[in-house]
Amino acid sequence: MQATRGEVADRVPVWFMRQAGRSLPEYRAAREGTAMLDSCRTPELVTEITLQPVRRYGVDAAIFYSDIVVPLKAAGVDLDIVPGTGPVVAQPFRTRADLDRLPELHAGQLGFVTEAVGLITAELGATPLIGFAGAPFTLASYLVEGGPSRDLLRTKALMHADPRLWHDLLSRLAQITGEFLRAQVAAGASAVQLFDSWVGALSVADYRALVAPHSAQALAAVRDLGVPRTHFGTGTGELLGDMAAVDGGVDVLGVDFRLPLDEGARRGREGLLAAGLDRGVAVQGNLDPALLFAPWDVLRPAVHRVLEAGEAAGGGHVFNLGHGVPPSTDPDVLHRVVDEVHAWRAGA
Ligand code: CP3
Repeated sequence: MQATRGEVADRVPVWFMRQAGRSLPEYRAAREGTAMLDSCRTPELVTEITLQPVRRYGVDAAIFYSDIVVPLKAAGVDLDIVPGTGPVVAQPFRTRADLDRLPELHAGQLGFVTEAVGLITAELGATPLIGFAGAPFTLASYLVEGGPSRDLLRTKALMHADPRLWHDLLSRLAQITGEFLRAQVAAGASAVQLFDSWVGALSVADYRALVAPHSAQALAAVRDLGVPRTHFGTGTGELLGDMAAVDGGVDVLGVDFRLPLDEGARRGREGLLAAGLDRGVAVQGNLDPALLFAPWDVLRPAVHRVLEAGEAAGGGHVFNLGHGVPPSTDPDVLHRVVDEVHAWRAGA
């Protein structure tokens, strides 16, 4: 929490995107016989899976076990998460008539979230719980494509072909995302992260005009609750300044593995300044997940390079990977990374 406020504490905190999940044998055991989306609606199971990586690794934060499509499902969208593929939408959203299948989400539909967050925070004690949601653009990519897609051709074509429909779609998604974030914080989450995982597919001009205002709307839903907000995407080197500046500025900028953290922080500051905000931004990241598969004598100096760049960034550093934990990761390697980060002292 100190690091998210830009303070440099005596040790660098660490957690991992996708720290809960298939890389853990205890996760595979807990999930046995339960579909992904059913598991997300079962508070006791959500609690167990959220806590598993905290117990095993001693990471400094838990992330709520759920998925970016859970609030869409709660609002009534017909979709599923297919193992090995990801979210699949029964009927893709491509016309104005399709908007009728995307109603507003109300807090009353998120009772299972409130209950799970209550159970988790009671067990976590002083360890913070991070709430999260998918950003409107990344959610729209699944709705428009109908499932995962490498180049997002239909999504990008729609945003240009029918910008009014696009804005209406993203505005609805921002409402849903905002409600999902708010439910988690209201129930006790200490921080939030907005995942715009696939936004790196866009140009700066398109991001600014067609996406950023909706991400701002989503994050604005928790502004008055006073929790630190992290904004993350992949392939976002050119977008970091704009991503830092949404909704009057975020607290933490997630940086993928393509840029050193100090350069990410510099681009974030530049974006804040361009928006009239003369302050810095903390950074989160950014070890390349592929390095987890390299020998320790290669991985260890890579961890140190991330720590040094995080220190050079100067405004708070939360250690993480540049993207999620790959399912085939050896948990013992992640454990070693946690210990290495915790043992590191600036300048030592
Ligand atoms: O530990 C955590 O990070 C918390 C839980 C979490 C999940 N999904 C659980 C999950 C979080 C934060 C997410 C976010 C998410 N979901 C994102 C944004 C983060 C990112 O990776 O960029 C995206 C794009 C999704 C959509 C999604 N859901 C994908 C691409 C997949 C993987 C498909 C596959 O099987 O390879 C999912 C399924 C999913 N979400 C799993 C988990 C643990 C795997 C389910 C299983 O197979 O058991």
